[in-house]
Amino acid sequence: MQLTMKQEVASKKVFIRTLGCQMNEHDSARLKDLLTERGYAVCDSPESADAVIFNTCSVRKHAEDRVYGKVGTLAKLKAKKTGLIIGIIGCMAEARRDEIFRRLPIVDFLCGPGDLDKVPDIIDKIKAGAGHIMCLEGYKSKIIPGFSKERKTGEKAYVKIMEGCDNFCSYCIVPYVRGRERSRPSKDILNEIKKLINNGVKEIILLGQNVNSYGRGLKEKIDFVGLLGKIDNLVSTSGGPGYVKVGFFTSHPKDAGPELFKAMRDLNSIIKILHLPIQSGSDKVLKRMNRKYTVAKYKKLAGDYRKIVKGGNISSDIIVGFPGERESDFKGTLNVVKELQFDAAYIFKYSPRPGTKAAKFKDDVTLEEKERRHALLLGLQRDILVSKRR
Ligand code: 5AD
Ligand code: SF4
Repeated sequence: MQLTMKQEVASKKVFIRTLGCQMNEHDSARLKDLLTERGYAVCDSPESADAVIFNTCSVRKHAEDRVYGKVGTLAKLKAKKTGLIIGIIGCMAEARRDEIFRRLPIVDFLCGPGDLDKVPDIIDKIKAGAGHIMCLEGYKSKIIPGFSKERKTGEKAYVKIMEGCDNFCSYCIVPYVRGRERSRPSKDILNEIKKLINNGVKEIILLGQNVNSYGRGLKEKIDFVGLLGKIDNLVSTSGGPGYVKVGFFTSHPKDAGPELFKAMRDLNSIIKILHLPIQSGSDKVLKRMNRKYTVAKYKKLAGDYRKIVKGGNISSDIIVGFPGERESDFKGTLNVVKELQFDAAYIFKYSPRPGTKAAKFKDDVTLEEKERRHALLLGLQRDILVSKRR
């Protein structure tokens, strides 16, 4: 039976499940737009989909275990529904490429974060009988892949200003799965923001693994503070000052400083929230993490920020149970958290990531001890937030 155009369009349905960070949320939103342009309708359950895609995270083992569990539960559906395509995209596709097809034979394709613009073609090829497909290592290209031209967004939109990371913190998988740092030309970023404002967006969040090194390697001479200035100028001339708000993250303490804080103070549209991960309150641990700053330097930075950006918020990430973290090191973290009174802190138990430098260190803090330290820090941070609200 010949399908009419309308029936064919209606039969193409995709379900996308996103795990992990805002970068993944951004990538999934762009992929949805791209698939919609190719005639797909986005649906809200795997049962009603022709293609089910998991956009995944590899930052901690727990995130990967969740994907193995969730995708595994689709085996019955796949057996019942001939032609159902299952894809794993994002960081875990890169990191676990050697084991996914073996552990999850129901998966049809893997696609890394640097290749997501190819997903619609991959699905077409599988429909035409191509078998398993792997599309990886696109992150090695210097260019961030172009997505669809139009974006369908609500009031808030993420805008990627850079991708990848050159910092190689010893615990972190990101440089291996998202590749080396590349910045987008400011013209592209400003054009995207202009369109978003015209579409009614009220809040824009600039994304990058390390936004403060924005501009390195670009032909134009620009840094992150320069980019913020241009964006503020655009926003205040198109939407009226104070109308569209612009936030950003993440900032690495080794690259943030008073210039940035003054820009946050002076530019009307910039949201006064700084996400500045400290990771540990022990110099010994910071060195083994390859963070390239000391606790004293971090405290000075946080102090400068609070002095310059009056009423500004500061948030942080902290890892407990890093290899070699003794009770005295952990006390250092408790002390710095008490002293700095973060407005938010995201606390993680160290998880060894194969391929990273720290994976070669002995994971010598027991799970029980990691849990104890995690609970203690969470409790402390909760108390801080309660006292701030009073
Ligand atoms: N184990 C635990 N936490 C990690 N993070 C990154 N890698 C790991 C790991 N291997 C945390 C860091 C980072 C946040 C996004 O995730 O705190 O800032
Ligand atoms: Fe990972 Fe460090 Fe890069 Fe952040 S700065 S993405 S923690 S390597």
